[in-house]
Amino acid sequence: MKLYKIAYKSLIAAAMMCAAGTVHAAGDDTEARIENLLSQMTLQEKVGQLNQLSGYGYHQAMVDAVRGGAVGSLLNEVNPEVVNALQREAVENSRLHIPLIFARDVIHGFKTIFPIPVGQSATWNPSLVEEGSRVAAAEASSAGVRWTFSPMVDIARDARWGRLAEGYGEDPYLTTVMGLAAVRGYQGDDLSKPGTMAACVKHFCGYGASEGGRDYNTTWIPEPLLRDVYLPPFKAGAEAGAATFMCSFNDINGVPSSGNAFLLRDVLRGEWGWDGLLVSDWNSIGEMVAHGYAADKRHAAALGANAGVDVDMEAHAYSDNLVSLVENGTVPVSVIDDMVRNVLRLKFRLGLFDNPYVDMATANRFYEPASLDAARRTAEESAVLLTNNGVLPLKNVKKIFVTGPMADAKHDQNGTWCFDMEKDRTVTPLEALREMYGADNVIYMPGLAYSRDRDTSHFDDAVAAAKAADVILYFGGEEAVLSGEAHSRADISLPGAQTAYLRALKAAGRPLVTVVIAGRPITLPEEKELSDAILFMFHPGTMGGPALANVLSGKAVPGGKLPISFPRMVGQVPMYYAHKNTGRPTFEMTLIDDIPLEAGQTSTGCTSYWLDAGLDPLFPFGYGLSYTTFEYGVPELSATEIGTDGSLTVSCTVTNTGSVTATDVAQLYVRDPVASLARPVKELKGFEKLSLAPGESRTVTFTLAADDLAFHNLRGERVVEPGDFHLWVDNSSACTKQPITFKVK
Ligand code: BGC
Repeated sequence: MKLYKIAYKSLIAAAMMCAAGTVHAAGDDTEARIENLLSQMTLQEKVGQLNQLSGYGYHQAMVDAVRGGAVGSLLNEVNPEVVNALQREAVENSRLHIPLIFARDVIHGFKTIFPIPVGQSATWNPSLVEEGSRVAAAEASSAGVRWTFSPMVDIARDARWGRLAEGYGEDPYLTTVMGLAAVRGYQGDDLSKPGTMAACVKHFCGYGASEGGRDYNTTWIPEPLLRDVYLPPFKAGAEAGAATFMCSFNDINGVPSSGNAFLLRDVLRGEWGWDGLLVSDWNSIGEMVAHGYAADKRHAAALGANAGVDVDMEAHAYSDNLVSLVENGTVPVSVIDDMVRNVLRLKFRLGLFDNPYVDMATANRFYEPASLDAARRTAEESAVLLTNNGVLPLKNVKKIFVTGPMADAKHDQNGTWCFDMEKDRTVTPLEALREMYGADNVIYMPGLAYSRDRDTSHFDDAVAAAKAADVILYFGGEEAVLSGEAHSRADISLPGAQTAYLRALKAAGRPLVTVVIAGRPITLPEEKELSDAILFMFHPGTMGGPALANVLSGKAVPGGKLPISFPRMVGQVPMYYAHKNTGRPTFEMTLIDDIPLEAGQTSTGCTSYWLDAGLDPLFPFGYGLSYTTFEYGVPELSATEIGTDGSLTVSCTVTNTGSVTATDVAQLYVRDPVASLARPVKELKGFEKLSLAPGESRTVTFTLAADDLAFHNLRGERVVEPGDFHLWVDNSSACTKQPITFKVK
């Protein structure tokens, strides 16, 4: 078992060492070669490199554009023969022979689909994220794709936002670890090697803070919050050598990201010294008009270029306007030259000048057994056991009643963003359970045809059939299309008649196991009462069926932990564990049904909670049960006082107190109880996933530097403030034990 006990600084240092090869892979003469090419380019050819088009097929208009040097990169072409044909036009028939880059949204696999990123995050196992990204890069690059628009490292604290499916959850630390793992997996140690793709860290920035969880919506993020929560995963990606970034659709404090010189020039290029390629989001330069920030597309082109967006994806704003904007002095040619340098640098790093073509002898290599195995393991480790009264793992069951709209949903279990997925390759839970228990022992009736189905007419027959079984396995959740881009929901409960169906199934009098497969947290308060166990999986991909069969049967033990809080009801969002304490934290609550009639105004104690939802989530960040139990000892510190440049180690003994070998995730949380800006009640600073045999104990050790406790104050300064700090090591953010205290002097 690989161990993760990563203090932030060492994490970045390791990533940078790994990335060093990537950055210099094209050779030390890269910059000279860039300058040489640049000196030969006309202004039109320069602007052509900044133009990215969505291209399908080899057709005359595209051939003309490529030969004429009017396009620098294409997205969405995945036929290697077409890739090679278009590349030949660029390399052999354009004046300067500059190769194209072919890009695609390969978000959680190309053909072999892994769990959606938030599901990968639920594994708390970055080596699996890295492996999945490596598989994605190998498959996609064998079809000619050398640039993926992934990973998304937007922090998501609002479960209504459909795009949280594409990221790693609510926490900056966990997101940073997982984002870096994805970059390593895609890019390897040398981007010019076959089987690699340029990563694209997106969406820069603040996209997950969209107001009300409505996609594309405005965001308002004060600078300390921006720097402490939203920027860290991007900063880490930049420092680790992520080859590209994408800016976001949203405006941030009134300025759309595509025109945000503060973010793109001052922070990304200036403070972080990043020299990669920054691409707009799809038409996001053009959308500055609808935002009310640009008068027209021409104005938008000037704003985008001057703010530092190198490549215009599909807005045609640059191709139509940049030449004349340079000619009239609105955009300096030096700005254009820098943009072109960034594009050419990526082409050199990818080795495209030397090896522009897909090798047809090894093209289209998909579904290697090891890739399918990695997809299954990732799905297994992503399973989060939310409740269990002992019904799981299944024991002594002869007949199983399998039901629900996600039991055999070959398309939908793959989740959002899998354009290249072939649904016939998907193995569903129904298929895997039939294989495991024998087809004759599995009774199947869907009950509901799809997740939004409201037709209750099959319930009676299903309940009658369920009575012939020893256990009911209900597979529900959300179809793929209910999360992802532009698919936000205002109600995040199980859609359609699913809860009504669970009520009906409960009446069958058999143990009821609810498996929820979804793209976001789902509110499950009633389902918790109705079910003997709830197993949650974010859309698990190609191998979701075998993974679920293994977990349900006990062949695999669930060890996933929530990467995002699960609210009781949607009115609690935004909900995240690292919230502030308020001046009136809640210790005791009077809930709505307990308030006496005509009670006085102050009868509830005047503390901070919801009368109808209390304070806590239904299931907190970091939470997830196992088929065994774990005991955490009292953490021991190597020092109780450190200087502002010092560090200490935290050791904690973890014991498997149950009867099966299983993994758990030891999580290190810290609180700064007195600071010049009120700090969150807890912040994750490290974690370690470990496997323990029954009765086995192991000591986990974290290194915590005073620098890990830094935050940004209202003057934008990063400070470590002396004082007492509290610390916990536990296996969920709920941290039920008393904290340990140490001091920074
Ligand atoms: C999405 C990006 C994606 C791009 C290209 C946009 O709509 O926001 O995440 O990479 O399309 O497909």
